[in-house]
Amino acid sequence: MTQTFPIEALKTKATPYYYYDTAILRQTLDAVKAEVSKHDNYYVHYAIKANANDIVLKPILDAGLGIDCVSGGEIEVSLKAGFPADKIVFAGVGKADWEIELGIDNNILCFNVESIPELEVINTIAQQKGKVVNICLRINPNVGAHTHANITTGLSENKFGIDMAHMLDVIKMTKEMSNVSFQGLHFHIGSQILEMDDFIALCQRVNELQDQLEREGIKVKIINVGGGLGVDYENPLGNPIPDLKKFFNVYDTHLKLREGQELHFELGRAIVAQCGFLITKVLYMKDNTDKKFAIVDAGFTELIRPALYGAHHKIMNITSDGPLDTYDVVGPICESSDTFDTDIQLNQVKRGDLIAILSAGAYGESMASCYNCRKLPQSYSSEDIMAE
Ligand code: LLP
Repeated sequence: MTQTFPIEALKTKATPYYYYDTAILRQTLDAVKAEVSKHDNYYVHYAIKANANDIVLKPILDAGLGIDCVSGGEIEVSLKAGFPADKIVFAGVGKADWEIELGIDNNILCFNVESIPELEVINTIAQQKGKVVNICLRINPNVGAHTHANITTGLSENKFGIDMAHMLDVIKMTKEMSNVSFQGLHFHIGSQILEMDDFIALCQRVNELQDQLEREGIKVKIINVGGGLGVDYENPLGNPIPDLKKFFNVYDTHLKLREGQELHFELGRAIVAQCGFLITKVLYMKDNTDKKFAIVDAGFTELIRPALYGAHHKIMNITSDGPLDTYDVVGPICESSDTFDTDIQLNQVKRGDLIAILSAGAYGESMASCYNCRKLPQSYSSEDIMAE
């Protein structure tokens, strides 16, 4: 697929801003639906932390997905966007009391509980409200993932979830609590995972844990395996839709679900990464002895992934077809880490050119900040832009 940018329309907008191609998003959602519809017990909750912009939420709502939240704010945004409360799950190691109350008051589908103290607080608050609350226990499966250390979550050294060794005891605790209803187990091993073996290792761990539960006569309704499927940051235009078939097949093949069980997923990046483009303008060209810098008007305030994780996003000069040259693309923030990439090839760059930073739909706008008293970026959908 070749991405054609509506350049004249893009030129009319003040930079930097996010441009969302909803056709890519819809194709991705169609691929998700095609896989999920093969099973009557698979449910996908979109991990809204990846991107909470209405432009992406609307097609996700239309596709019938639920939402995975990690804060009260995300619950509020999801409800406002029209997602039904009974399709909202809520994870996170540090849920504040008001966030728990919000979830309970709105009758969300499930709390993914990450510790015993949290379980006790949920039970107490539910009791005060005279409600019984659905909970899954997030279990730390001690399964590594081949991804950046900052985004691996399933190792016992990570802060997430309840130690596997404590699983049975905690389930027994839930049975003695009057105001929580134990529904199942939740897992999430990390993000930007492209090696299916990592998900296979998770399946094997879940199978072992299920065997353990079976020996104890414990029945579980929900198995939630989280998200984590990665996308192609190197060739986003050639490969814009992640291999969802391969991902769902792993679970289909390797996870032994018991009679009547539901399998839940929490995909974020795989759904929205490739539909988002950060559009920024070249402010200045600077030639040092051995470097050419293209200084653009976006910085890590708009897209922090390169600075925070050393991530590489493909960068294109969409207003030039001049000869290729080698550049460092840097932002205006007063920190050396405000560099989008170094020594990359771009069509000859001059002041005023528009630069597109690709695969920016996930964890781009949602991680934007106002450092240096900058303004949060604007956003436009391809539909808005075409209609003008
Ligand atoms: N479920 C849970 C419990 C999670 O913690 C996450 C992501 C997801 C689902 C969705 O994972 P995904 O399908 O998007 O991989 N800011 C980082 C990524 C952090 C992911 C945090 N948790 C980045 O820009 O790479």
